[in-house]
Parts: sequence; structure tokens; C-alpha cells
Amino acid sequence: MNIKEKIEGLKKEKDAVILVHNYQIPEVQEVADFLGDSLDLSRKAQKTDARIIVFAGVRFMAETAKILSPKKKVLLTRKSAGCPMAEMITPSELKYIKKKYPNAKVVSYVNTTAEIKAESYICCTSANAAKVVKSIDVKRIIFVPDRNLANWVSRFTDKEVIPYNGFCYVHERFKKEDVIRAKEKYPDAAVIVHPECKKEVVDLADEVLSTNGMVYFAKKTDKRVIVVGTEEGLIARLKRENPEKRFYSLGPPRMCRDMKKTRVEDVLHSLEEEIYQVTIQEDIMERARVALERMLSVS
Ligand code: 13P
Ligand code: SF4
Repeated sequence: MNIKEKIEGLKKEKDAVILVHNYQIPEVQEVADFLGDSLDLSRKAQKTDARIIVFAGVRFMAETAKILSPKKKVLLTRKSAGCPMAEMITPSELKYIKKKYPNAKVVSYVNTTAEIKAESYICCTSANAAKVVKSIDVKRIIFVPDRNLANWVSRFTDKEVIPYNGFCYVHERFKKEDVIRAKEKYPDAAVIVHPECKKEVVDLADEVLSTNGMVYFAKKTDKRVIVVGTEEGLIARLKRENPEKRFYSLGPPRMCRDMKKTRVEDVLHSLEEEIYQVTIQEDIMERARVALERMLSVS
């Protein structure tokens, strides 16, 4: 039996579902029941009837699945797969900011720990950030932790957006010169970037999209050449699903070290041993669920 057949067999035997983020390596993407972005995967986690959710992604994604499906066993395929941006803000820092702006409401990007979500009014993802911010009935919003996504959402609202200074090291590597060069080299191309990119990159791009937004755009556009400013795992998916189109990375391909930790063997190991189980303190989980469910109800 090959590894894929073993995974299939165990999945049935144990009543498990495999959720995979778009940045995972192609071999892991191939064993997915659902492959998607943070928003899509959190919806799938909320709705599944399976007993076990195996998450091939990073910790905050598996935590989100657990918060939305608390009765299920949620497994993260690699224990150490985290998101450096999610670790940039601590609960005590957020509590300090909240005291400083008592009339503001906190919007936290899902790329945060459960503790930060528990301190937030509402969560958002890259796919629904503008919608979420518009739905809030106060004039001031504290937006954590991504400074670039904060800048992006501030364009869709006249509310005051107070950003935290976090960032994604993968997306901040794309430069404005990369966009200028790509447009010179491929004048007919569409340049699409993730909102975690710097303002100067976002300003020059043709579209600013979540990873699933990029998947839909690539399918429906008449453009034959697309230059992509996000992690290279998504580009592999775009090439596989659109063989008649050409895709290039915006500048050198950029890799998220944590997203690349999971190999297909880890997915099998996770199913066999039922590891690494996500556990979150009950009270934190309940408060974090309010912020996540609020997000899902507006998007
Ligand atoms: P998406 O929700 O757009 O897939 O983004 C997740 C992420 O971690 C981007 O770096
Ligand atoms: Fe975090 Fe950036 Fe990796 Fe996404 S790409 S998981 S934001 S470090």
C-alpha cells in the first residue's frame, strides 16, 4: 500500500477529514479533502461532521478549527508549525492598547493566538477584512497584528484604524521594484498580490486578494499571464489548475518556513498516532469563539 492509500484507509477507519492550506507542498495538497484559504477552511471546520480534523497548515489555523468545533479532535500535522506574525502581539500588549482607546473595538486577523482572539470583538481574514471593518458600529478600530492588512482595510472605511506593528516576513519581502520589473517584462500580465504585502506593492498591483481570491481570479480572468505576490505553494496550485495559463512569482519565489514543515508522511503519522492534538483553555476558547462566529456571520 502506498502512503496515499494508507491515508485514505485511516481517514475512513477513524472518521477524519483533512484540511489543507494553499501554501502546503503539492504532495500534501493532493491528500486534502478541502484545500483553501483561512476563511474557507474555518467554514469547513465549523460544518464538518467528521470526528477528527487533521490540519495541515500552521497552529493558528488548527486552533481556529478547534474553537469552532470544540467537540472534535483537532490535530496539527507538525507541532512546531506556527506563524511568526501571530506571535508578534501578546495579550498584555493588547490589553494595554485597549485601555488606551476605551471606545475602540478590536479586530484581530485570524493570524493570532486564541488568547488574542479572546480579547477581540471580531476576527477577520484576508478575504473578508474590509467587510468586517465596515460592519462595526464604532468610529475607532484597533487592528491587530498586521500593519499591512490594517493599511489595506483602512482604504474601505472612514473609520479611524489604529494598526499594530506586526507583519509577515514572507510577504514583506516583495518589493515595489518587483512589480515595476514584472510589468516591464510581462506588459499584458495581471499582477495579483496578497494584502499582507507592503503598501507600496499593494499600490502598484492590479488586484489585492486572499489566496482563494487568487484561485478564483486565475480561473475567470482572460489574462494568459499572471504574476503572483504570495507564498509559492499557492503558485504551484494555480499552475496545476490552470495549465493553459502562465504564472510567475513576483520576484524570487518566497517561502513560509512553517508552512513547509509538513510532509505527506506527517499527515499519515498524525492520523496513525492522533497527534498533535490542539487543546485550548475552556474560557479562552469560549471568548475567542464569539469573535470568530461574529466574523462568520458577517461574511
Ligand atoms: P489566506 O487566508 O489568504 O490564505 O492567508 C493566510 C496566510 O497566512 C497568509 O500569509
Ligand atoms: Fe504567517 Fe506569513 Fe507564514 Fe502566512 S505566510 S503563515 S502570515 S508567516
